[in-house]
Amino acid sequence: MKLAVVGLGYAGLCTAACFARKFEVVGIDVDSGRVSQLDRGKVPIHENGLSALLKSGMARGNLTFSEDYSRTRGASVILIAVGTPSNPDGAIDLSQVTNAAALIGRQLARSKNKPLVVIKSTVIPGTATTVVKPLLERESGKSCGAGFGLCSSPEFLREGKAIEDTLRPDRIVIGPLDEMSGRAMKSLYRRFYSPKSPPMVETTPENAELIKYASNAFLATKISFINFIARICETLPGADVGEIAFGMGLDPRIGRQYLEAGPGFGGACLPKDSRALRAFALQRGLDGSLLRSVMEINDTQPDRIVFAVERALGGISGKVIAILGVAFKEESDDVRESRAIVLAKRLLGKGAELRITDPEAIEGARRELGKNANYYEQPLDCIDGADAAIVMAAWGEFKKLKPQDFVRLMRTPLLFDARSIYDSKDYRAGALKFMAIGRGDLA
Ligand SMILES: NC(=O)c1ccc[n+]([C@@H]2O[C@H](COP(=O)([O-])OP(=O)(O)OC[C@H]3O[C@@H](n4cnc5c(N)ncnc54)[C@H](O)[C@@H]3O)[C@@H](O)[C@H]2O)c1
Repeated sequence: MKLAVVGLGYAGLCTAACFARKFEVVGIDVDSGRVSQLDRGKVPIHENGLSALLKSGMARGNLTFSEDYSRTRGASVILIAVGTPSNPDGAIDLSQVTNAAALIGRQLARSKNKPLVVIKSTVIPGTATTVVKPLLERESGKSCGAGFGLCSSPEFLREGKAIEDTLRPDRIVIGPLDEMSGRAMKSLYRRFYSPKSPPMVETTPENAELIKYASNAFLATKISFINFIARICETLPGADVGEIAFGMGLDPRIGRQYLEAGPGFGGACLPKDSRALRAFALQRGLDGSLLRSVMEINDTQPDRIVFAVERALGGISGKVIAILGVAFKEESDDVRESRAIVLAKRLLGKGAELRITDPEAIEGARRELGKNANYYEQPLDCIDGADAAIVMAAWGEFKKLKPQDFVRLMRTPLLFDARSIYDSKDYRAGALKFMAIGRGDLA
């Protein structure tokens, strides 16, 4: 079976690499730099296990890359995984999807087979039926269901665990536009996941599209909710949000995951998908205040770290501040909407001298902050001589730092653990001033 994956970002490249274990896959991207990098065996993003999968797929001749859409001809399944960023008003920008659909449609016009087109990108409800289907039909001169198939099948992988999630997903959601497409989609997934298919939800395309948005907006809400509780804890001596989340999470109706207080959510999905769902609701005359509050809590969460550090140091201007972790989370190099970048910009605005370390995201941080910060490969070099150190991503490298490392190296040993990676009992000892999100001692 031949597959084409259109869009080789975090979602598309990981999907292509995984599917190449069983099928012949061509990855298509309009970014010629990315395609030639991949052709040379260079992996443009950091994702655990991706490099090995790309290498083995290419070595077996199962995985190739191209800018040329004519390579989609002959594929029995064409997966669209291009980006769906936010417009300035928060609504979804569908231009990459419409561009890809038009280019695929032109190839369908000359295609002898009846391929299945699958929308993996996160798109607002109605996109498959009212945007992609008419575009494919117009450009190909063929009709959906007869000349080609179309199905919405949103992607749920998490960056940092993308390969694991693609190979062993919790569920597959499919929203075919016609019967033939539903059958073809299920057959692809069954062959790929054989002998044990994950649970499959087959529904309308609109439901499939909305399941994705509802899932991400719900996860964002959970994070902002626990950050709201953290704020209450910070006014309450004796309170600790970690204990509250633990106690709440034991209730199976609530669950423990995504109930970790911290600097807020970032990355390529939760912020933009929450904004897009809110904009979609507003367009339909609905009240968007629930998601507005979720975003407001998230937007102001880094300020709380700034204020706490400012108060502890007696001002930020001229102070040397080390940020440990700039990726939006550990195990990723992605800095899109990272709370650490937001924090860095706010600290710079107050005149801080910034130092940054991250095992994988220094390049991304440089793109965002340029010469306004100094960058360090090693965490120990980054905190050496600093007035405050703030942990913004839970990398294993940072967990290895001991309280005495901070005391020995820093000018004023002040540690703000925004990810709760350290046990406060051990880190509160001696000369180290230790602060964390959602603890009564910030009161
Ligand atoms: N990143 C994630 O963790 C994740 C998880 C689940 C779902 N998604 C969804 O998957 C989609 C892709 O996300 P991403 O993070 O991989 O995006 P990305 O920005 O990392 O990558 C998009 C890629 O598409 C390419 N592209 C743009 N227009 C194109 C076109 N017309 N033809 C071919 N290639 C084109 C770009 O050059 C880029 O390489 C989004 O809708 C996103 O919401 C992402």
